[in-house]
Order: sequence, then C-alpha cells, then structure tokens
Amino acid sequence: MAEDQDAPGILAILNDIILTTTAVYTDRPESLEERLVWLHHRRALGYPVLVAECLRDGSILGFASFGDFRGGWAGFRHTVEHSVHVRADARGRGVGQTLVATLVEQARSRGKHVLVASVDAENARSLHMHEKLGFTRVAHMPQVGCKFGRWLDLVVLQLVLSDDTPC
Ligand SMILES: CC(C)(COP(=O)(O)OP(=O)(O)OC[C@H]1O[C@@H](n2cnc3c(N)ncnc32)[C@H](O)[C@@H]1OP(=O)(O)O)[C@@H](O)C(=O)NCCC(=O)NCCS
Repeated sequence: MAEDQDAPGILAILNDIILTTTAVYTDRPESLEERLVWLHHRRALGYPVLVAECLRDGSILGFASFGDFRGGWAGFRHTVEHSVHVRADARGRGVGQTLVATLVEQARSRGKHVLVASVDAENARSLHMHEKLGFTRVAHMPQVGCKFGRWLDLVVLQLVLSDDTPC
C-alpha cells in the first residue's frame, strides 16, 4: 500500500507517461501536491493504491489503484475503475499483471462486483494484459479522446468479480 513517501516515484512514472504516450488522456504533467491529494483521497475512501518496488534499490517500478466509477453515483457503488502504470524500464516483465491481479483481489475483498478498465485502443500491451487476466471488451468508443493533435479511440473492458454479489 502506498505511503506519502512513494508519491514522488508514482509521480515520475505518471508524468513520463503523460508526456510520451496516449495511455493517459492529458498532456499536463501533475505536481507533487496534486498526486498527494489524489493519494490521500483514495486512502480516505478506503481504496488501495498499490506500488511495486524494486528489491534491489527500493525504487517504485509501478503503481495501480481503483476509484469510483463515473463520479461515484450511488447506483454505481459496486463498480470501480482502475488504472495501472509501470516505469518504462520495467515494462514487459510481469509487473503490470501482478499489480492488476492484486487489485482484482482487493476489489473482491471489498465486496465490489465489477472492475472496469478504460484503455486507449492503440495500447496493445495493456489490452493483451487485461484480456489475459480475464477482462472482456465491452465497448469501443471512436474518437472520444484528443491528444498530440489526433483523435483517440477508447476501449472499455470489464471483469465481473463474483456471480453472487448482493446488489
Ligand atoms: C500497460 C502496462 C501497465 C503493462 O504492464 P507491463 O508490466 O509492461 O506488462 P506485463 O509484463 O505484466 O504483461 C504484458 C503482456 O503484454 C504482452 N505484450 C507486450 N507488448 C505487446 C504488444 N505490443 N502487443 C500485444 N501484447 C504485448 C506481453 O508479452 C505480456 O503478455 P504475456 O504475459 O502473455 O507474454 C505497462 O506496459 C505500462 O505502464 N505502459 C505505459 C502506460 C500504460 O499503458 N498504462 C496502462 C493504461 S490502461
């Protein structure tokens, strides 16, 4: 579970992704203060923020978290939406899969019913990883995003966490 001291490592990964990829639909890097507010907000709601640490030097290799779906309307309370990001030099080594698999367990243990992932349609690695973990594509939304001067398609995937969650 992430502590305040992990925020700089989380921020460095996120800002690199914001500046160099279409995985996140913004081109404005965040400040440390903004990431700390995010971290505290997730913690206050009882949602996990997971970090993967390098055993050798303790640096942050990746992070993952889930939060309210569609702004937290009451009827969506059994559904959460997650994000996962891995440092550029640590990708393709199973860090992302481990983080999301752990998030799935965290969501189940909180009695959540559905976990949602929204993934840029060109992000083949993330799509593959989520489908390998059992997520199903449920929507392809053409041109809902705009970054680097072009339209971006968003793919929505979901995993039903339990067949018998009471509504
Ligand atoms: C997407 C991301 C989270 C995945 O984490 P990761 O640690 O790199 O991924 P993993 O090593 O756990 O698994 C990647 C899987 O995708 C596969 N893969 C890699 N490149 C691929 C490609 N171009 N097309 C399809 N599959 C690909 C890998 O082979 C692996 O599958 P396998 O286990 O069946 O061999 C990470 O790459 C990342 O942070 N990317 C930048 C930001 C981002 O895209 N975040 C997600 C936003 S939804």
